[in-house]
Amino acid sequence: MTESLKGKTVVLGITGSIAAYKGAEVARRLMDLGADVHATLTRAGAEFITPLTLRTLTGNPVTTDMFADPQEWHVKHVGLAQRAAAVVVAPASANAIAALSLGLAHEFIYAVALATPAPLVVAPAMNDGMYGHRAVQEHLRRLRAGGARIVEPETGRLASGAVGQGRLAATEAITQAVVEVCGERDLSGVKLLVTAGPTREPLDAVRFLSNRSSGRMGYAVAEAAARRGAEVTLVSGPTALPAPPACEVVRVETAEEMRAEVLRRFPECEVLVAAAAVADYAPEERARGKLKKGTGSLRISLRPTPDILAECGKLRKKGQFLVGFAAETEDLLANARKKLAAKNLDMIVANDVSQPGTGFDSERNAGYLLFADARQVELPAMEKATFADHLLDAVVEGRRPRRARRG
Ligand code: PMT
Repeated sequence: MTESLKGKTVVLGITGSIAAYKGAEVARRLMDLGADVHATLTRAGAEFITPLTLRTLTGNPVTTDMFADPQEWHVKHVGLAQRAAAVVVAPASANAIAALSLGLAHEFIYAVALATPAPLVVAPAMNDGMYGHRAVQEHLRRLRAGGARIVEPETGRLASGAVGQGRLAATEAITQAVVEVCGERDLSGVKLLVTAGPTREPLDAVRFLSNRSSGRMGYAVAEAAARRGAEVTLVSGPTALPAPPACEVVRVETAEEMRAEVLRRFPECEVLVAAAAVADYAPEERARGKLKKGTGSLRISLRPTPDILAECGKLRKKGQFLVGFAAETEDLLANARKKLAAKNLDMIVANDVSQPGTGFDSERNAGYLLFADARQVELPAMEKATFADHLLDAVVEGRRPRRARRG
């Protein structure tokens, strides 16, 4: 038996489902694969299986009530969240799925799932009617969109005696998913710098020029990279988004501020992904106070802002990998290819921002990955979290020494 999880810490959360007893089997199998398993029970989970069983099995303390000893919880368990190679919730009740999707933290396993950059594996188990309910399915969709791996329940005889989809997936399927997501930490230790969001270029004390970037694309790249083990710094223009877990977030307003923060960190980074919609122009002058409304038209003269990515293209060192985005409304590939060359990049994402439902301020994106060696890969419309993983797959592949590259 290959110990494919040797040396990896796996946090296993068991929640209030009749299948909770199978959680012990999942723990045993993960240990057979070499993992150091730290089990935890929600209060409902502890109604079905005892902490003693899991402690005896894993050899590690089992947390059921995170408020039992806050000091112990803080010292040991936040560290556990950071050390985890994967967080598994099996079985995951309908309540657990909702809590994970909404980012609640009233049980230890939910707090760990929020605090950890590690990938999340969720194995639902419940009555088939509950599993098919739109609320449960919507929470599962949100979890998938955030990069979680859902191990679908099996169809078979349920505790109620009915036959339907809701039985906990086979132990093998759950542990295989854990092995796969652990293998995906292919950016472990890589220093990755991401820019995201718009910039705001002040016109006066209350007005500014900006654009419709929400930051979602850049935040998705930062979150996926952190989940895959990268050390992520996200330089973000103004957005309404929460900070992605386990990323250093530096908030800026103007193109100048973004430039200063990027150039300060650029020499140390190994990968730069510039997803920010940096303003190309800013008002020549920033009026003091609020410009008074006159009767005639107001003319504003604009000056070009520094091209941050082009500057990085000039400063880049051997071994750095630079990724840009080209926001185009026509001649997508030709215009993107020009920017790829002009900014001295390794890869550019060509995305047509005139298409409804993708690009600016949407949950999805579509486009092409263009490479300096003339290769290109089309990415059809998909969730930005999935798009981000495809982008990072290309970064991992592109950073491999030439001889080791596939294809
Ligand atoms: O944020 P979302 O709502 O999720 O929308 C995502 C997005 C549409 C903003 C994103 O997918 C995208 O296309 N980002 C780049 C937007 C942009 O400014 O494209 P551009 O073609 O104008 O710039 C080309 C590249 O140069 C970009 O990597 C940009 O970050 C960079 N740039 C541009 C201008 C400037 N002054 N400095 C720069 O570094």
